[in-house]
Amino acid sequence: MAPRKIIIDTDPGQDDAVAILLALASPVELDVIGITCVAGNVPLHLTTLNARKVCELAGRPDISIFAGCDRPLGRDLVTAEHVHGKTGLDGPTLPEPRMTLQAQHAIDFLIETLRVEPPGTVTICPLGPLTNIAMAFEKAPDIISRVQEIVLMGGAYFEVGNITPAAEFNIFVDPQAAHIVFRSGVPLTVVPLDVTHKALVTKARNDAFRALGTPVGIAVAQMTDFFERFDKEKYGSPGAPLHDPCVTAFLLAPHLFSGRFINVEIETHSELTMGMTVADWWRVTSRPPNTLFLNQIDADGFFDLLTERLAKL
Ligand code: RIB
Ligand code: CA
Repeated sequence: MAPRKIIIDTDPGQDDAVAILLALASPVELDVIGITCVAGNVPLHLTTLNARKVCELAGRPDISIFAGCDRPLGRDLVTAEHVHGKTGLDGPTLPEPRMTLQAQHAIDFLIETLRVEPPGTVTICPLGPLTNIAMAFEKAPDIISRVQEIVLMGGAYFEVGNITPAAEFNIFVDPQAAHIVFRSGVPLTVVPLDVTHKALVTKARNDAFRALGTPVGIAVAQMTDFFERFDKEKYGSPGAPLHDPCVTAFLLAPHLFSGRFINVEIETHSELTMGMTVADWWRVTSRPPNTLFLNQIDADGFFDLLTERLAKL
């Protein structure tokens, strides 16, 4: 069976980096036809730099990487250096990349690719704010029906917010973009904090990364050593939630996850709850379902898969 073509839209970010590494370590199942970068965890010039560092760490300087939007639709950019460090990829010391960015804008790459590839053959994996995706859908609505599916990390229901009391970071940074994507009718699977907060990098799991003894294994362990401070201090948890790699793992092993097909709307008016994913988990409204909203993960199975694949790089 041919590998699934995917475009990863990302704001690396240590967890984004691990999601990219997991995808590149799985060429039988996944063909990464492009990586589009967006401003989020850190400004765009750093997310594009970090994406190139990660691809070179994986030994894949051939991957096409595109710069996208440097700010949300109609709001000021909110970044997360308090979580990811000033570089966005604090932890390991990775060499300056030699690979260059593609000249084409990420939005135009998304549009062109979806128009050229046969309908229903390209999956989009957003790991950051949805600005690039929303802008592509607004500029070229004809591509929406050509997307195979979107599997994104973002939102929360039972876990509520991680950047505000009500909202998860990716959705909060660009609520208008999220509204466009969630209302687009595209086949949508959401990996929210309800899942990722059950995928904690405990010491034993991080030691397993380090024990790989490879540049990738050691770098991932160093990323987690840095990345985990914020969540362990805030939640008192035994490790950092490995958010974005859950998206890649869902594509590789969907049996590790479960959820419900429900309606999810985005708060775009109230500043108090701006960016909240209003998930009709108990189906108390007549709003039509639009999202496979995941809420369970086999965490041991996830980390076994992740460690086994990272060992291949
Ligand atoms: O809320 C977690 C999400 O925000 C992750 O994608 C992390 O990388 C940040 O972008
Ligand atoms: Ca991210």
